Amino acid sequence: MADPTPRIVDLSQHVGKTITVRGWVTHVRSSGKVAFAVIRDGTGIVQAVFVKTQLPPEVWERFKDLTLETSVHVTGEVRAEPRAPGSHELGVTGLTIIGPSPIDYPIQPKEHGIDFLLDNRHFWLRSNRVRAIFSIRNEIEQAIHDFFYARGFLRIDTPILTAAIGERSGLFSTEYFDEGNAYLAQTGQLYGEAAAAAFGSIYTFGPTFRAEKSKTRRHLTEFWMIEPEVAWNDSADNMRLQEDFVSYLVERCLERRAAELRELERDTAPLERVKPPFHRVNYTEAVEILQKRGSSITWGDDLGAEDEALLVSEYDRPVFVMNYPKEAKAFYMKENPEDPRTVLCDDCLAPEGYGEIIGGSQREDDYDRLLHRINEEGLPVDAYGWYLDLRKYGTFVHSGFGLGLERTVAWICGLPHIREVIAFPRMMHRLKP
Ligand code: 4AD
Ligand code: MG
Repeated sequence: MADPTPRIVDLSQHVGKTITVRGWVTHVRSSGKVAFAVIRDGTGIVQAVFVKTQLPPEVWERFKDLTLETSVHVTGEVRAEPRAPGSHELGVTGLTIIGPSPIDYPIQPKEHGIDFLLDNRHFWLRSNRVRAIFSIRNEIEQAIHDFFYARGFLRIDTPILTAAIGERSGLFSTEYFDEGNAYLAQTGQLYGEAAAAAFGSIYTFGPTFRAEKSKTRRHLTEFWMIEPEVAWNDSADNMRLQEDFVSYLVERCLERRAAELRELERDTAPLERVKPPFHRVNYTEAVEILQKRGSSITWGDDLGAEDEALLVSEYDRPVFVMNYPKEAKAFYMKENPEDPRTVLCDDCLAPEGYGEIIGGSQREDDYDRLLHRINEEGLPVDAYGWYLDLRKYGTFVHSGFGLGLERTVAWICGLPHIREVIAFPRMMHRLKP
């Protein structure tokens, strides 16, 4: 096997050696006898220095063809140079142009509008800022797996094509042979419940789909959700798991992605405060607080984005809003024995105006009550036969939650809109690129 090409991030191990870097040109400048090209390879950047008097004329001439995003192999001696972008330089001895790039490359070093950038997302991904965001997203994804693996949870991959089950929001459908319509999964939870009865503690991590006609900064039509489900956990256990989980994700980013948070100019002081226990407030109390602060919410309504922002403004760390009215939440949540108008559930709201990142609940484990709720909501009992069976054969106390990955990444990065934290966002008016 050939030697792997050195990555720019590892250049400090190659000082004094002549190596070949493969990458793309992000910046060029020339001052007659000396010319510079900054090369990006996805792991970092390095400045390649071309000195006319030290190069064969054809290599010096080739420098002129280096436009923005030309792909190249550059050979040269690695030198430590603290003043250079990336802290290293390549004293160039050879240059091969792999893929030329016409001068009309869409993304130029100037301000572009968000719609233009999203139309050119396939190129916009190449910026430093986007790289920082995706390093943080990747850190969070890895931390999620590490957290659950260390606690002995099994990861279960649940189906994307389903027969009309899930949450209340809109469904995407597609024809499915002779079986009628199939619907893209809005949640893996119900399958997760079946798996929890088999394996105890599980989590799902997959794409979920909602045909919601909402054009807000926190709604995508395709997003990624992590859904743990735990046998024998009640609602209080469920919230303890959530606060440990969210705190761990934040801590991992602070520990391992400090440079990327700095690149995004994220104020990390509010993140340092994200530690258990989170605040806990009952829905009924939350409504009173909100009314005092001028919201027009009345008992029975779900909290809107503005209500959530108003509520979290008084807290220095995430807050659980607990036990919502039945009519505001999904059919599968367990009735609260202390107030049957409400269910045993929580939404975890992130501070700094972000709001809901998690929806969780204890599940209705009583067969008759669940059947009653399915009928009350006018859901097709047929499609839920297997789900009811879980209550018929060895029912069990169990709870779980769903954490929205993009909302969590946007909050930790301190970004206003979740479309920036997914590589190719899907929204009501966006299906390309
Ligand atoms: O509150 P939701 O709808 O809960 C469920 O789907 C449950 N089945 C979870 C469970 O108990 N296993 O969604 C959970 C989270 C929300 O808190 C939010 O972070 C995210 O998923 N989410 C969205 N993220 C982006 N775009 C959307 N349209 C979203 N809808 C929900
Ligand atoms: Mg919710």
